[in-house]
Amino acid sequence: MDTQKIRRDFPQLERKINGERLIYFDNAATSLRPKQVVDAVSQFYLHYNANIHRGIHTLSMEATEAYEKAHKKVAQFINASSMEEVIFTRNTTESINLVVFSLYLSGKLKEGDGVVISLMEHHSNMVPWQLLRDKFKIKLHVVNLNEDGSLNLNHLEEILNKEEKIKVVSIMHASNVLGTVNDVRKIGELAHRKGAIFVVDGAQSAPHIKIDVKDIDCDFFAFSGHKMLGPTGIGVLYGKKEILEELEPFLRGGDMIWRVTLDKVTFNKLPWKYEAGTSNIAGGIGLGAAVGYLEKIGMDNVEKHERKLATYALSRLKELNFIRVYGPSERIGVVSFNVMQKNEKPLSPEVVASILDKHGIAIRTGCHCAQPLHNDFLGVRGTARASFYIYNTKEEIDSFIDVLSSLKSNAL
Ligand code: ALA
Repeated sequence: MDTQKIRRDFPQLERKINGERLIYFDNAATSLRPKQVVDAVSQFYLHYNANIHRGIHTLSMEATEAYEKAHKKVAQFINASSMEEVIFTRNTTESINLVVFSLYLSGKLKEGDGVVISLMEHHSNMVPWQLLRDKFKIKLHVVNLNEDGSLNLNHLEEILNKEEKIKVVSIMHASNVLGTVNDVRKIGELAHRKGAIFVVDGAQSAPHIKIDVKDIDCDFFAFSGHKMLGPTGIGVLYGKKEILEELEPFLRGGDMIWRVTLDKVTFNKLPWKYEAGTSNIAGGIGLGAAVGYLEKIGMDNVEKHERKLATYALSRLKELNFIRVYGPSERIGVVSFNVMQKNEKPLSPEVVASILDKHGIAIRTGCHCAQPLHNDFLGVRGTARASFYIYNTKEEIDSFIDVLSSLKSNAL
């Protein structure tokens, strides 16, 4: 994997921020996009812009073909059986809402039924299920974590053994705060043994790890395009065909129908049954280009590169005894930390981030859309987080460590 060659596809990396060359370590929030993705989007808008599935003129057919090709590319990327199993949404949050509401509308979740999530979930895989709990009396069970930030599988088994009516287990594949990668195959086995539907939130895994939905044997897998080089406003929900056929779509209107009379509606075939209204056509085409870009590098290389960066960052951070790092040693390229003051209280992560920003280094601060994880597990108001991607380098980590080292004397 030639990182220097990759970097040339990302003009933003040449930007100077506060007089310094940008070091972009906020990839878990959103990645940068290569020229190839921006070109694919602008080609559509400039040369074959038209609505899909609605016209027999040449442009409409070209747009339809490109949009459907993007579905096929994504299906291949995650090893789905066909594009019928790949629904384009706005993002992971919308994908999970689609699952939540479709299950509820279809009577698969009823008052008194149980759903299992975990304490490491970000809000996308927590708040939609909380709505079912608060409005429709679904019981929500939360799996605890082990001290090192891994999922407590014994607690999951305990819940599954004790509670009778568990209908859904919905767990994140990789943590956007701790970097933990969950054993989704094992979790899926446990869920299915119980007869529950298994939903995987892949927002932080699809950009970084080779995904094989058949191997995981999940019923649903949700992810966002913008964290994996694609445009914002485009996401994916993979669902097993037989389940998607059976469920009711929750977004209704144009394009998702086959026939409408004043009394009756029949739905379109998959995946269009779940894509109501005019789609984000340009976004879908851009996502197809992003997937193509990642496939060219090879997802195994992507993962290897990021794990190497994470291991290197952890070892360098260990040199700084006033930094507290959260999460296990084996992880994807996400490192959340706090700068500890002499009074043992963390320095505000926002202060840390603004000092780094003065040196051109972009990180994220706060709860990273995972407030319960911070408050109830880490016991802190927030953390600073550096997250890496294909264009980041060890040298950038060295610059980051240099700035953090200076905090000992300057800020504490
Ligand atoms: N959940 C996203 C993050 O981790 C937005 O930054």
